Amino acid sequence: MTLCVVSGSGNSPLAALIGRELGVTLSACNVERFPDGEFRPTVGALPDADVYIIQPTGPPVNDHLVESLLLIDACRRAGAERITAVMPYLGYARQDRRDEAGQAVGAQVIARAITSSGADRVIVVDPHTSAIEALFDVPVEMLTAVPMLAEVLDEHIREDSVIVAPDLGAVKLAEHYGSRLDKAVVIVRKVRQSGSEVRVEEVIGDVEGRPVVIVDDMISTGATIRAAAKAVVARGALSDVVVAATHGLLLPQQMEGPRFPLIQRIFVTDSLPTPSTADVTLGVVSIAPLLADAIHRLHHRQSLDDLLMR
Ligand code: R5P
Repeated sequence: MTLCVVSGSGNSPLAALIGRELGVTLSACNVERFPDGEFRPTVGALPDADVYIIQPTGPPVNDHLVESLLLIDACRRAGAERITAVMPYLGYARQDRRDEAGQAVGAQVIARAITSSGADRVIVVDPHTSAIEALFDVPVEMLTAVPMLAEVLDEHIREDSVIVAPDLGAVKLAEHYGSRLDKAVVIVRKVRQSGSEVRVEEVIGDVEGRPVVIVDDMISTGATIRAAAKAVVARGALSDVVVAATHGLLLPQQMEGPRFPLIQRIFVTDSLPTPSTADVTLGVVSIAPLLADAIHRLHHRQSLDDLLMR
């Protein structure tokens, strides 16, 4: 099988970096957009190809998702032997269960759609929950960017820093950072009130006089990290908070005052195109080497064990 890399429009700079790391030219692919908003992708012939489609489904999530499904189908019809959907950021992964009666399980709906379009395997990076694996009928490789982000953090944080999980769902991730950086973990108990509002109920652990590093899988509106920073500073933490998150959506917010008060610096990966952030110092770590390594190993049927999320 020939290794082929196809880029959707979700993050073409990342796809170009992956292609460069692998030493392959990206396969021809054109995505036409019709006046009514429909997409029509066209790919070249892919006989006997082992195809990796690079398409994170960040905002606009629904467009990138539909484009992804169509690309998978186009590659299948163009003769691809094996198709891997490389979706470092997977939109809808937060909807892995119903919070209230009457809701959908969005993550399962998109998992079914991706599988039935023809994907043989999916690669994601630090998904919101590892529970998404069970929603797919094909293997899901859940890579982690924590070692890469921790290495960069190590150069920027103080010896006495503590790692803060901004909600219960981030505890495992925070423990992973804590063990890599040899730092204690403090937990914030958050309640989400709406898509853009959260409330902190409790801080579990001691932050008095300590620098803190808030870690999360993603920053969407920024409400979670804002609330966590405010809560830990109110309990005595130093007010130059550092944040690390794998996926930096950093959606623009209409609000008065600074968007990230108390936050001195945010580190994210390039899983999504880097947003404009004049109001905070942003450090971007590329996951292209991680994804290229995973693609190389899958193509050669080697183990990904040491790259996977624990
Ligand atoms: C939710 O539980 C996730 O882990 C993140 O904490 C959350 O999605 C971040 O969203 P926002 O920045 O809008 O608070």
